[in-house]
Amino acid sequence: VTGGLRTERLVLRGWRPDDLPAFAAMNADPEVMEHFPSPLSAARSDELAGAFQAHIEQAGWGAWAVERRDRGEFIGFVGLVPVSFEADFTPAVEVGWRLDRRHWGHGFAAEAALASLDFAFGTLGLERVVSFTAVTNLRSAAVMRRIGMRLVAEFTHPNVPSDSPLRRHVLYAVEAPGRT
Ligand SMILES: CC(C)(COP(=O)(O)OP(=O)(O)OC[C@H]1O[C@@H](n2cnc3c(N)ncnc32)[C@H](O)[C@@H]1OP(=O)(O)O)[C@@H](O)C(=O)NCCC(=O)NCCS
Repeated sequence: VTGGLRTERLVLRGWRPDDLPAFAAMNADPEVMEHFPSPLSAARSDELAGAFQAHIEQAGWGAWAVERRDRGEFIGFVGLVPVSFEADFTPAVEVGWRLDRRHWGHGFAAEAALASLDFAFGTLGLERVVSFTAVTNLRSAAVMRRIGMRLVAEFTHPNVPSDSPLRRHVLYAVEAPGRT
């Protein structure tokens, strides 16, 4: 469908081999991964980037690599992902993000996520996009609200172990313009 997206300050594009070291470094950072079960090894990080790129090649959209236009620097991923588990709100497409800590606090996640929503509604014609995160991940929920999503429910993530404090999640959603 597309070669990528462009915003005022960012490019959302397919993954390149030279993104992998920076992606592995951020996925190994305990602060970036605070609300996930654990940081990722370099091998798991590379696998994740490979899966994102495979989806982009097959579908024409997905979780894009994000680059700052001012520095040409890879800063993380933002984009659209089909929800991989079953719940009362699936099938659904999720908007998601993960940025290197050095690039938090600039509005980059929100800027890239808004472009992703425009693409989801304008190009893909989706009626609704969801997002979810562990209830403890206040920064991520703040991005959801900043891009106009509303809290729909709390739910128990089926793929998180029952003894984990990360199991309780918040579900946010936004409808295509004109459908709200
Ligand atoms: C979630 C995450 C992407 C949020 O990053 P973020 O930079 O806080 O989010 P935004 O892009 O919305 O930026 C908002 C911040 O930028 C500031 N900002 C500065 N310039 C801005 C601008 N031009 N426009 C908007 N916000 C701006 C805002 O004031 C806000 O700062 P605050 O945190 O002090 O309130 C980041 O914390 C992250 O990668 N976390 C780890 C991975 C993760 O948990 N992902 C989600 C899993 S579901």
